[in-house]
Amino acid sequence: MKSVLITGANRGLGLELTRQYLERGDHVFAATRQPEGATDLQILAQQRGGQLVVLPLDVTSAASLAAAYEQVAAATDHLDILINNAGILPGHPGSGIDDNQESQKLGQLRYEDAMQVIGTNAVGPLLVTQQFLPLLKAGHKSRVVSLSSGLGSLELKASGSHYHYSASKAAMNMYMRTLAAEAGHHGIISIMVDPGWIRTDMGGTGAALPAADSARGIIRLTDQLHAEENGSFVTWQGKPVAW
Ligand SMILES: NC(=O)c1ccc[n+]([C@@H]2O[C@H](COP(=O)([O-])OP(=O)(O)OC[C@H]3O[C@@H](n4cnc5c(N)ncnc54)[C@H](OP(=O)(O)O)[C@@H]3O)[C@@H](O)[C@H]2O)c1
Repeated sequence: MKSVLITGANRGLGLELTRQYLERGDHVFAATRQPEGATDLQILAQQRGGQLVVLPLDVTSAASLAAAYEQVAAATDHLDILINNAGILPGHPGSGIDDNQESQKLGQLRYEDAMQVIGTNAVGPLLVTQQFLPLLKAGHKSRVVSLSSGLGSLELKASGSHYHYSASKAAMNMYMRTLAAEAGHHGIISIMVDPGWIRTDMGGTGAALPAADSARGIIRLTDQLHAEENGSFVTWQGKPVAW
């Protein structure tokens, strides 16, 4: 049985990952900004008893991070897997930027929007991982999986769109690759994963891939990671993505 912490676990890919780790019998810490409004997680918690702990965590708040760490550390002496899943895309639910993508167009770009997206998508995963490092170090070959995107690839970038989101995922890749180099000395394997275009609030109804399929792939590749894959950027099926 593994101890798994997932951020943004109340909906979308994070909820699917939570469901599938629970089905395997793992111990899941499901972090969400608003546990009281996280109906699906609350139902799962009732069904699963102590196997699922639902806890508050806003990845942009230092106080929230410290409180979440205290709660998890009181319940377990180690973490095997951290999934940095929480993220925002302007114009989509939960982003705090409700303007149907206008904020990501040249002529409309604003400092505040950039900071919001980069703070959540890039700095957030870095500081969550920093906070939980003691518990990850206490695990055996612990894994850190950070949800990136093909839109964060410099090489693949060919359109004038998604300025802040693309930059945030490229920045996250660099933050987490830097962390991978350092945390790798403690046996921690850290990767960045493009989950594919998935049917969630963020991906929309036109997306081809069910979140359940992507989650299954991510869990499989996380199980099969080797030390030499530390710091790599791969798809949910394990194929390398161009930086
Ligand atoms: N969907 C796609 O096609 C796609 C493609 C490439 C990459 N990704 C990446 O995959 C990850 C999951 O995406 P998704 O499609 O499942 O997105 P989603 O349905 O929009 O869910 C995003 C989750 O992140 C949480 N979140 C946002 N800001 C947060 C914060 N400050 N602190 C804590 N939690 C926060 C949300 O919580 P609330 O409910 O409180 O808002 C929600 O649980 C993201 O990192 C995304 O960028 C998705």
